[in-house]
Amino acid sequence: MALLIVVGTQWGDEGKGKIIDLLSEFAHVIVRFQGGSNAGHTLVVEGEKFIFHLIPSGILHKGKRSVIGSGVVVDPHVLTDEIDSLKTKGYFQDDSQLLLSEEAHLIFPYHKLIDTGRERNRTREKIGTTGRGIGPAYEDIAARCGIRVIDLLNEKIFRTKLEETLSQKNYYLTHVLQNDSVELEPLFHEYMGYRKRLQKYVTNTSLFLAQQMDEGKNIIFEGAQGSLLDINHGTYPYVTSSNTVAGNACSGSGIGPTKINFVLGVTKAYTTRVGGGPFPTELSDEIGIRLRERGGEYGATTGRPRRCGWFDAVAIKHSIRLNGLGGLAITKLDTLAGLETIKICTAYHVGNDVIDEFPASSELLARCHPIYEEMEGWQEEISGAKEISQLPLAAQNYLKRIEELAQTPIDIISVGAQRNETILLRTIL
Ligand code: GDP
Ligand code: IMO
Ligand code: MG
Repeated sequence: MALLIVVGTQWGDEGKGKIIDLLSEFAHVIVRFQGGSNAGHTLVVEGEKFIFHLIPSGILHKGKRSVIGSGVVVDPHVLTDEIDSLKTKGYFQDDSQLLLSEEAHLIFPYHKLIDTGRERNRTREKIGTTGRGIGPAYEDIAARCGIRVIDLLNEKIFRTKLEETLSQKNYYLTHVLQNDSVELEPLFHEYMGYRKRLQKYVTNTSLFLAQQMDEGKNIIFEGAQGSLLDINHGTYPYVTSSNTVAGNACSGSGIGPTKINFVLGVTKAYTTRVGGGPFPTELSDEIGIRLRERGGEYGATTGRPRRCGWFDAVAIKHSIRLNGLGGLAITKLDTLAGLETIKICTAYHVGNDVIDEFPASSELLARCHPIYEEMEGWQEEISGAKEISQLPLAAQNYLKRIEELAQTPIDIISVGAQRNETILLRTIL
């Protein structure tokens, strides 16, 4: 048995979906433990593109079990759409492949209206949320007024809770956000429809995982977002509303921390961010545009152009500590081909000071100017490389320097979006 946590080390979209799909071959179970349909995890399999928002990225592998854990906030509309789309394409024919935690909380249309309404009314720099209702749903969990998957299974309980919550939400929507209210009856019937569709997947997923561990199965915990978007340790308030770091894999899936074997950090060979907030190595010149176009850096959930910049070793060291990373999967190295020189940020200048620790204050981070090391670039396309020795020397040197700065080994190098465009350096599962 081996338990592997895979998390993003930057501001999300590092290529977690691709890496998890690849590693799923060696696992029996893949678990999402936090976030919701704000995530967009892209897999390219035999030229076909899939984007998953809620279903774990192992679902394309026949016979592997996919678990949506109790820490996830579930939009049943998105989930049923995802199920339909997979089944239409000939995947996920066996319903026992998917398990949905009875403890997971549900997202309702009022969460999305509150999310977008607040963004619209915000006078300071916008967070730039995905508008998927994630923040308001996590607020309800903490305020103990959330409605869970298990509530959906009992029509009477569900109705009572929905009636009570909706009257409060409608007051907030109409009086504070100047929005329309949400009607009870159509909403109730819509969710009873989801109940019919989803109840066969609902179970005690913590118990299921314990049984799988007893049977010696390999389990991957699939992080969503990235460590710099963590609600506690990220660039607050420009973050998501859950803990995205590895520590949350246990509480978000209902297992203890003693059995985790390894934590892998998925790290893009440069940096991107979608939404608002500080980003010291952001490039607003033609190199930034080049990275966006070559890397296809457009949001998998919202289609928004991603902000692009150089690799930030200060941020990565922060993530390595927060997650206790044992290794890195470096992705999208191929995007960097064709540049004369490549820069790596090793510290920040702020006023007269030089700092090499990621600051807690977003206001301070916004005043940080990157200090760069410059490295030689390479011109060759590298997506066909199967071994590290097949990479141009300059690309090898770039990876070596990242490893040195991170003081963490690189276990996987991704040189393209397809499964086979990957160099596996070490067996981690
Ligand atoms: P995730 O949210 O971390 O799963 O990442 P996204 O799916 O949002 O964004 C990563 C994008 O890069 C997707 O379009 C992937 O298909 C793509 N991708 C992943 N790895 C590589 C790679 O090594 N090279 C290239 N060119 N594209 C990649
Ligand atoms: P994956 O799993 C990149 C960002 C949003 C916004 C902030 C808060 O695909 O890496 P939210 O809707 O969560 O309240 O938005 O977080 N964000 C992501 N950025 N990748 C993601 O997920 C993200 N999920 C949320 O853009 O800045
Ligand atoms: Mg994504």
